[in-house]
Amino acid sequence: MTADDDARAIEWTGTGLRLIDQTVLPARLVYLDVADVDTLVDAIVRLAVRGAPALGVAGAFGVAIALRQAAAQGWDAATLDDAIARVREARPTAVNLAAGVDRVRPLVPKGVDAVVAEAQALLDEDVRGNRAIGAHGADWILARVGEGRRLRVLTHCNAGALATAGWGTALGVVRELHARDRLEVVYADETRPLLQGSRLTAWELERAGVPYFVQADAAAASTILRGLVDVAVIGADRVAANGDTANKVGSVGVALACRAAGIPFVVAAPWSTVDPATPSGEAIPIEERPGGEVLTWGGAPVGPPGARAFNPAFDVTPAHLVSALVTETGVLEVSAGMAPGRSAP
Ligand code: MRU
Repeated sequence: MTADDDARAIEWTGTGLRLIDQTVLPARLVYLDVADVDTLVDAIVRLAVRGAPALGVAGAFGVAIALRQAAAQGWDAATLDDAIARVREARPTAVNLAAGVDRVRPLVPKGVDAVVAEAQALLDEDVRGNRAIGAHGADWILARVGEGRRLRVLTHCNAGALATAGWGTALGVVRELHARDRLEVVYADETRPLLQGSRLTAWELERAGVPYFVQADAAAASTILRGLVDVAVIGADRVAANGDTANKVGSVGVALACRAAGIPFVVAAPWSTVDPATPSGEAIPIEERPGGEVLTWGGAPVGPPGARAFNPAFDVTPAHLVSALVTETGVLEVSAGMAPGRSAP
């Protein structure tokens, strides 16, 4: 598999961002051109672009979009600041979004080209980092499980090429195991309510020729306890200094089942997702999304009129359940006491 076989979820065209509109996958591969801040914020809020590293890149290029719009429409400094703040705060949990904005913001006085160059550097670093995460993750997993056979890997949500600048974090590990002919099958949790697992992860695995099953989220614990899974590998939206990890809601249930079954629970994430300023999971802001996402299916109601939904988009897995944090520089055995806040490069 070459680097070009995976999807390019996010690209700078010279005048704006071209995104794969992830709300319409897998039915259609549709691109969305974004040249203004309102359209970008809307794309982030409705998950047309999503996944922590991809949000970081979108945030960085979002500053360039705001600058171009400011020049075209004669914005004053306060209007520009407000536009950049709206991009930065469009979603709260993935630290990459704010970090992407903050990385390029000091370059605003130097103009659009300087901002675009730094945003492109972030994008390129992410692709390179994902390749390294894939290799480190596969090495660590193969040294601990498998005993020479092909592995059965469970993943939750989508931490693939679509969620990053390319290749993927958790799916980068999966792609690497597949390339080494050490992958038997992936169990892809469907990921209620927005189905990032069945719509997006399955779409990527299909394109990559990786064998997989989609399973209901509710099946995950039993699949693990029945001995059908060798290792779970997920991505992250924010890793606190102590190793507590926020990821798509349902991840902590997978981690608990892995602990009960005695198999590793692996988090694959770049250092850009580690937030040393957040001491522990309690301080991670958890996005709550509209109840309608839970109470409708394909536009039809699945609850009685008046039903209320609780719809947290993420949960926090405590550090003691995280066997390994795989970054682009290597692996930290978090549950064994290797806190990322003490090891940041
Ligand atoms: O709500 P989403 O789809 O943005 O949530 C995405 C996830 O939870 C991913 O697992 C995470 O961002 C890691 S992506 C490499």
